[in-house]
Amino acid sequence: MKLKKIAALAAVAAMVVSMAACGSTNSDADKSTTGSAAEESQNAGKDTLVMATNATFPPYEYVDGEEYKGIDIEISQAIADDLGMKLQVDDMDFDSIIPAITTGKADMSLAGMTVTEDRKKNVNFSDSYATGVQVIIVPEDSDITGPDDLSDKLIGVQQGTTGDIYCSDTPEKGGYGEDHVVAYQNGASAVQALKTGKVDAVVIDNEPAKAFVAENEGLKILDTEYITEDYAIAIAKDNTELLDKVNASLAKLKADGTLQSIIDKYIKAE
Ligand code: ARG
Repeated sequence: MKLKKIAALAAVAAMVVSMAACGSTNSDADKSTTGSAAEESQNAGKDTLVMATNATFPPYEYVDGEEYKGIDIEISQAIADDLGMKLQVDDMDFDSIIPAITTGKADMSLAGMTVTEDRKKNVNFSDSYATGVQVIIVPEDSDITGPDDLSDKLIGVQQGTTGDIYCSDTPEKGGYGEDHVVAYQNGASAVQALKTGKVDAVVIDNEPAKAFVAENEGLKILDTEYITEDYAIAIAKDNTELLDKVNASLAKLKADGTLQSIIDKYIKAE
């Protein structure tokens, strides 16, 4: 079961369904320096929370007319409201998000972003607020039935996402090798490439996959074994004050049902 191997070997902080091993932790963010005077002033006087995202990922974030919409946008707004701040959404390429956080251009990111060990080297993650599953989209008449059939195929992914990272890994590490992966700037472009036969399959998170398949005739999502991932909010390593505040807001939003009602608004129970 290739995708499973990939996740385990890549040490991605992902729980693999049907495997006892689980590498998922969101609680070990570096909080050791919380409360220092220097930190206290770090966010002082700021009235705008800048949130970096890549709004090509329905239902988490997408552009509707002139507006940003989606689960992550609404959660960000709820956090900003709770912190008494204004929200500014900065839309950028997915692989620009972590650099935007580490350089302080943005305060936090909600982008359906999976917690991974590699990313944790560069940013802190909040407690998880949702889960995602990597799935495979193929044309309805495809002979591909699961991850094992992908080794001699061309796979479309969104650049810099976990789907890209897993699939691009070497076969020894459970991937398919870079030669088998075509990275697109967004999932919709990968899906267009699939429709026109430029790639044989697309590996992407389940909820955007459902949205793309609903918009495009002749495609299906394989009902195969899945990798489950945790989505969390990325925040600069040195801004532990914001991390603590965001975690406190998230806890409130979870406790009072706001978080679930935002998710339920966009993801209908099957
Ligand atoms: N969950 C995947 C990852 O973290 C994909 C996220 C893509 N998000 C987006 N807004 N385009 O790599």
